[in-house]
Amino acid sequence: MTSSQNYQFAGHDTVALAQQYGTPLYVVSEDIIRHRCQMIRSEFLDKHPGSRAAYASKAFLSMAMCKIIQSEGLCLDVVSGGELYTAREAGFPMERVIFHGNNKSMEELTMAVEWKVGRIVVDHPEEITLLEAIASEENRCVDIQIRIVPEVEGETHRHIMTGQKDSKFGIPLVPEIIEKAVQSALAAPHINLKGFHFHLGSNLFQQEIYVEAVEKVLQLCQQLKEKLGFEVEEINAGGGYGIRYTEKDKPHPPSWYTDAIMETVIKRSRELKLKQPTVTIEPGRWIIGEAGITLYTIGAIKEIPEVRTYASVDGGLPDNVRPALYDAQYDAIVANKADQEKTETVTIAGKCCETGDILIYDLKAPPLQRGDTLAVLSTGAYGESMANNYNRLPRPATVLLTGNEARLMIRRETFEDLLRREREADVE
Ligand SMILES: Cc1ncc(COP(=O)(O)O)c(C=O)c1O
Repeated sequence: MTSSQNYQFAGHDTVALAQQYGTPLYVVSEDIIRHRCQMIRSEFLDKHPGSRAAYASKAFLSMAMCKIIQSEGLCLDVVSGGELYTAREAGFPMERVIFHGNNKSMEELTMAVEWKVGRIVVDHPEEITLLEAIASEENRCVDIQIRIVPEVEGETHRHIMTGQKDSKFGIPLVPEIIEKAVQSALAAPHINLKGFHFHLGSNLFQQEIYVEAVEKVLQLCQQLKEKLGFEVEEINAGGGYGIRYTEKDKPHPPSWYTDAIMETVIKRSRELKLKQPTVTIEPGRWIIGEAGITLYTIGAIKEIPEVRTYASVDGGLPDNVRPALYDAQYDAIVANKADQEKTETVTIAGKCCETGDILIYDLKAPPLQRGDTLAVLSTGAYGESMANNYNRLPRPATVLLTGNEARLMIRRETFEDLLRREREADVE
């Protein structure tokens, strides 16, 4: 049964979706994803020939997602053998894959070389030696970028800051260390050094930090040109563009970031007498975050007089670890009461045995009852991809909305799925 008073997402009645597929349920809109990819194309790629945009697949990945990204002409950023395997099984063109990771295993590096991925982003100097050994064995040349730490701090939760000096990612901005890494890449016969990569962090709403990082990288390039004769071809400026989780957030279109980046690249490479490098960006959250919601069913409601009212849902920390991991804030709508006045203040709790399993503090909502459907908004990024089975909760299904159609993209886990690895082991 559908009702126009129910909360509609991408033209679909969310209460009807919850009834049809059960809850918790991830709902993802293909139309929104494609619209966002097209914005990146018209605002960045079309304006700057040679530029690339890679969707950061850690935000949300499935084979169907790979196909959407492929058909929109974007590249794909992967950080593990599992993400790379998913892309390959989906038929994603390997030359459009960028392979990251601060501790890639030999197996992962070998996969990447054998499968001919487009770029490997080297995270530490030793990786150059490992890659040269693998590539020479395979008798092929590997295109790499070197990840550097630009020592630029974004305003975001410290767990998702990556541009600062004290980071586990990338090569420190110390001239001798970088020069040594560049020299070893230039000396390696099976390595083709294309340029540098940086990623400042996630959910960033500042333009100036990208400009500052680009400026530092270009200065580095000029020093390397003078000292080693190395001409940079590519700069990869990572992702991190912020989205709207709650009404406090004021997100920007991609051009707000990329225009500032490109302006600096064009102006400064001219001033520093460098050949203008091409630029790659890697947004994840900005493409998928607002394209997804999660539907839950309200269960137990507990009122503590003069303290707060808890309304518990049938999921929580296992399907969305972000609030517990980095105090992420969300907004939500009571989907079957979308037209009712928000007279109450409730705290939305998950069902796990963890005090920290709270999805939203102090949500304004109409009076709640067991059985109501709650839609938590902007959960497309780092929800499903970070999902786990804590308390042995089966992971939710994901439904893909395309126009008027709703189709199962990832099926719900069963209790038997939870036991499968044990059933296939030796100890009962
Ligand atoms: C190297 C790299 N690129 C891109 C991203 C995507 O970040 P976001 O989803 O915030 O755009 C990340 C996120 O961790 C990353 O580590």
